[in-house]
This record gives sequence, structure tokens and C-alpha cells, in this order.
Amino acid sequence: MTKFLRIAALAVLSLSSVPASLAQSPQPDWFPKKDMLTVGVYYYPEAWPESQWSRDMGNIHKLGMEFVHMGEFAWYFMEPEEGKFNFDWLERNVDLAARNGMKVILCTPSATPPIWLVRSHPEVLMVDAQGRTMDHGSREQADWSSPLYREYVTKIDTELAKRFGNDPRVWGWQIDNEFSHYGKRFSYSPAATAKFRDWLREKYGTIDKVNTAWGGAFWSMIYQNFDQINIPNTEMLVADPSPHAVLDFRRWFAHETADYIRMQAAVLRQYSKNQWITTNFMAMHEDVDPSLSAKTLDAFTWTHYPVHGDLNEGPLGFRLGSPEVMSFMHDFMRSFNGISGPMELQPGQVNWGQVNSWPLPGAIHMWILRAFGAGARMVCTYRYRQPLYGSELYHKGLAETDGVTPSPGGREYAQAMREVTELRKHYNPDAREPESYGKRRTAFLISYDNRWDISNHKQTIRWNTEEHWMRYHRALKSMMAPVDVITADRDFSRYPFVLAPAYQLISEDLVARFNQYVQNGGHLILTCRTGQKDPRGHLWEGPWAQPINSLIGAKIPLYDLLPVGVNGQVKANGKTYAWGSWGDILEPDSGTQVLAQYGD
Ligand code: GAL
Repeated sequence: MTKFLRIAALAVLSLSSVPASLAQSPQPDWFPKKDMLTVGVYYYPEAWPESQWSRDMGNIHKLGMEFVHMGEFAWYFMEPEEGKFNFDWLERNVDLAARNGMKVILCTPSATPPIWLVRSHPEVLMVDAQGRTMDHGSREQADWSSPLYREYVTKIDTELAKRFGNDPRVWGWQIDNEFSHYGKRFSYSPAATAKFRDWLREKYGTIDKVNTAWGGAFWSMIYQNFDQINIPNTEMLVADPSPHAVLDFRRWFAHETADYIRMQAAVLRQYSKNQWITTNFMAMHEDVDPSLSAKTLDAFTWTHYPVHGDLNEGPLGFRLGSPEVMSFMHDFMRSFNGISGPMELQPGQVNWGQVNSWPLPGAIHMWILRAFGAGARMVCTYRYRQPLYGSELYHKGLAETDGVTPSPGGREYAQAMREVTELRKHYNPDAREPESYGKRRTAFLISYDNRWDISNHKQTIRWNTEEHWMRYHRALKSMMAPVDVITADRDFSRYPFVLAPAYQLISEDLVARFNQYVQNGGHLILTCRTGQKDPRGHLWEGPWAQPINSLIGAKIPLYDLLPVGVNGQVKANGKTYAWGSWGDILEPDSGTQVLAQYGD
């Protein structure tokens, strides 16, 4: 008989020991709690006549903005010729911001190498999957595995930090911009290849171990030494590469990115005394794992553009964005140390979506207050002025194209800031979370390894890992559970609930921690696609998903998938639900409580 079940909790948990938040304790007081939320905006002085800087800064302040973000993408203006640095224009703007009572976030310009660098050293550019070296003429084209590129970045960051690292007008730093080469594009350069090989040497020690982990006996894919290994590249292969090699490559890329972030942070820290450091991760982006930078960064920020052509839920979903994704990002980024917030929150219509609709009037204001409600300490929006030229000239800002009139988005930011100012008057340092709320606190366990491995082996085009996460996240939010999205390197033992959706790769150590957690009275929620493989991505030599069998009190003799347009039924409590993307078929052990069954 086919059964569908959930795990029942084994004992009653004592909740008195659970603190209001299980996030790590915050850093120095860069974001005083009494300020509640602070809001700011990106400004690119290098793109506007100097005669307008003072007027613009004054108008930014009039909108209620409390900080200005500058310097991103301005490498050419900071170092117009190799070794000749010019920060005076930036300094004048830092000064104008300060005179208007605003703090400054500076950004390292490493996302846009200047032409003199690229032409004299083309090896700093990434090489794409087809072996083509990228060119000057856009952004994000540099190869951060190139030792030479890292040298140049170190030089510009050093000069920037020497000039502004002790400047009390500068509040914090952003490193680079939205790490990734934009969606599953990687550098296959000799430098990247060499670093991938080094990482493998470090991880495996011997080539035999690589061959075992990558399943080299399948299709004679054996390597004899590390120098024979290239980055798995489907453009150079007739059939599929080893999924285990691809998994290791995705891991390496995430580690390499974290290493590059660390490198830049170390340069800034050398000269900066009391300034915080962040980078603006991309919302729901798969390539780069922010948890690898948990110990590097002081604040955890991300870019968020809810309205860009997706229909989302309900007839106005395309104008409101996805509430789940928004919530999820807050719950993820806040969980590191409690200092988080969107670094780029959409100010209006954008230029790069499939369909660039207007957000619903009021939506932007709602997102800002949503950020406050979710515990964000800051919101920064992209950007103050709508550009009059360049690829983003259809991108709204807080000011209209005349450079002075507040846009609808600008007015919503101003309104939100007026309300935050009012809220501050009511700040109560003794306010405590209601106990009944804390009792629902849930650790939502995610793993980038799982994301990558599932992408390798989807098994059905109906599967979407992020949608699967969102389904569960939505259910938790509908029960008003506070959620921390965390990775398994963190301690989840004190959360009343732990949810690990589609945890496809599972280590024996994690299974042991799950068992311990449940024995101590924790409520563990697992979903389909869990425990199928070991951390290398190999199936277990045993029954399907063997390590979780005793944990869930069931066997999983098979799973089924339905074609697009065909749904099956699940019956529970007299109601019928549809399923279609993945159906684990469970055979419960005796004594396991069955809550639902397949209906057909
Ligand atoms: C972001 C990016 C910004 C800007 C913005 C436009 O993804 O970080 O630099 O391009 O999109 O919406």
C-alpha cells in the first residue's frame, strides 16, 4: 500500500530555554536598535555634472534618506591611468553627504575594470564556456581567479581604504556588486582551471580519490593526475559530464567567490577602523552561497527587484512581487548576525525584466515596511536619478528624468521614512517577543549542495527547488511562525521546529544530528527528495534513502513523476489535494502515524 506521512514529534519540548532570536549576537553599534530602520540610496556622482552634486545631495536628504551609496562601478574615475589615483571628486561628495546629515556607504569598483587595465592585460578577463575571452564594454567581465586581476583590485581597494578607512563620514563598505557572472556563467580561463585543480588537490589529496568521488569508472572518465582535469564544460562535451564533477565545480566556484570577497574585505579592514563591510548578494541566486561569507561580513545585504514580469500570486501579483521570496530573503540574510537589509530595493519600473510593469501604487512603501517587520536594519534603493544614457536608461529612480522631481517611488520612500521617524518615537528597548510566537520558531535548513545536485538531476521539468522551498515557507508564514533560514553548519538543536525541504544529499553526521534532535523532543519536518544520496552525490548502497528510513519510520520503495498537465491526488482529513512534481511512495513501519494517502 502506498502511504504519505509526516513525522510525529516524539516528546514535548521545554520552550523556556529558547531565546527570542537564535541569530548570532550583533556586532558593534553600527545600526543602533533605537533607529529601527534606516533608508538610503545609490548615487553616481561621476555620471552627473559637478554643478548638480550639491543640489542632488540636498534633494536626497529632503526625501528623508539617511545615507548615500557611492563609488560602485567608478574605477575609471578613481584611477584614470595606472597608478594615478583621484578620489577628490568622491571626497567632495562624501563631504556634501555629511553636510546634509547623511552617512556614506562606499563601494569597491572591482565589477568594472578600466580600459587601460583590460587592454594591457587581457588575461584579467573571464573566458567563457566556448573559450572566448570577454571584452571591455560592459561590467562583470573580470575573472576573479586571475592573480593579476586580484593584484590590481588589491591596489585600488588599498588606495580607497587608505583615503576613506578612517573617515568618520564613511559608515560602511560594499564589496563589488552582485557576485556572479550573471546566471550560471563561469570563467573557464587557465587561471580558473588552475585554481579549481588546486582546490581538488586540497580536498582529495590523491587523484584516485577524485576518480572514486567522480565515478570515473563510468564511461572511462579516469584521470591520471590533477593537471589533466579541466572545468567540466558542456560546450566541449558531446554527452553529459560526471554530475559529481559538476557538483564539485559548483562548490569550488562558490568557495572561490567567498575567497575573493574575503580578500577584498581583508584589504579594507587593514585600513578601515570602525566601518562595517558587506556585499550585495543576489536574491535566490544559486551560484554563490552567502553562508560561506558568514565570518567575513559584518552586514548581510542583497538586491531585490520584486516586479519584473513574473505573474506571482493573484491578479495583481505581477505588480506586487512574490511575498514568499521577499520573506525568505529576510529570514535567510537576517539569520547570520541580525544585521541585514536589502541593499537594492526596487524604486519603480526596471529595464531588465521580461516585462517591466509598474509596481502597484503603494507596493514600494509596503516592501519597505515589510523589511522593517522582518527585522531588516537598513533598506537602500537603487538609484536616486534615472540615468539619461546607458543600458539602464529605462530604470526608474527616486527622481524623475529632470533630476529633481520625486518619482512615485521617490514619494513612497519619503512616506516610509516619515513613518519610520514617527515609529522611532515609540521605540521601547524592553519590548519582548510574545511567547506564543517564539514557540513556533523554525529553522529552515537549506543547502546549496542540494540545489546544485538537484539541478544536475532534475528528473522532471516540473521540479523547481526554489518553488518547493517557497511552498513550505509560505505554509510556515501562514501559521505565523518566525523562521530563520540557515545552513547545516549552524546549530539547530534549540529550535522548536526544523524543516529541511528536499534535502537530497545527506551526510551520516547530519542524520545523527537529526536523530539526536528528534530524541531530544525536536519537531523535524522532512519532505520528498530527501536523503537519496551521500555528499558526493552517490546513491546509497542499500534501500532507497536508507539513512532516513528509521528517522521517518518508513521505507521509500519508489518515487513517481507525472507529465506536465497530469495531476494525481493526495487525500487527507476528508480533503483531496493535487500533486504532480514529485511523489515519494512511502511504506510506513508499524506504529508510524499516517496522515494522508494517495487517492488514486
Ligand atoms: C542590479 C544591479 C545594479 C543595477 C540594477 C538595476 O541587479 O546590482 O547594479 O544594474 O540591477 O535594476
